[in-house]
Amino acid sequence: MEESDIAAVAALDAICQGHPWVAGHFRDELARGDEGFSRVVVDSRGGIVGFVCCWTVLDEMHVGTISVDPAARRGGIGKTMISQAHEWAVGRGATAAHLEVRAGNAGAIAMYESMGYRRVGVRRAYYADNGEDAVLYFADLTSGSAA
Ligand SMILES: CC(C)(COP(=O)(O)OP(=O)(O)OC[C@H]1O[C@@H](n2cnc3c(N)ncnc32)[C@H](O)[C@@H]1OP(=O)(O)O)[C@@H](O)C(=O)NCCC(=O)NCCS
Repeated sequence: MEESDIAAVAALDAICQGHPWVAGHFRDELARGDEGFSRVVVDSRGGIVGFVCCWTVLDEMHVGTISVDPAARRGGIGKTMISQAHEWAVGRGATAAHLEVRAGNAGAIAMYESMGYRRVGVRRAYYADNGEDAVLYFADLTSGSAA
């Protein structure tokens, strides 16, 4: 992801997420430099069809956000982006990955569980826009159980 991608990335997030990130959030991700993994996936015409933003703190990777264009879903883009983030994080010494996901987001939960993430907790009424719970997921990046 580069500065010139941000307008398209924010526009895609606005159609994918109930409470999307805005341009400033993505700029903050780019400012992480080597400590961040912000990537876009483009189609054959160069249009952005997906993106992910992750970062590491010490030996932990965190998934900040991920979205795939509704027209491009179920083709493996989401899983590939998370897998590549795992590889990147392991290369930086990460041993675990963490994320929060809305309790009602069955599609994302299915994807994370298919990749070896396991549920480790709940933050009640975590999301301010609708009071939805956040489910906390963890993946061990050392055991080979995470995709
Ligand atoms: C979650 C999201 C990123 C998944 O992207 P994707 O490219 O469609 O995911 P993949 O094609 O890699 O799916 C991998 C696996 O996850 C599971 N999965 C993904 N979406 C699913 C859905 N809607 N329902 C059930 N299972 C789903 C399936 O097991 C799938 O494998 P399969 O297609 O072979 O059955 C996408 O649905 C999205 O952008 N959602 C809106 C934004 C969002 O919720 N982001 C996550 C916030 S934590």
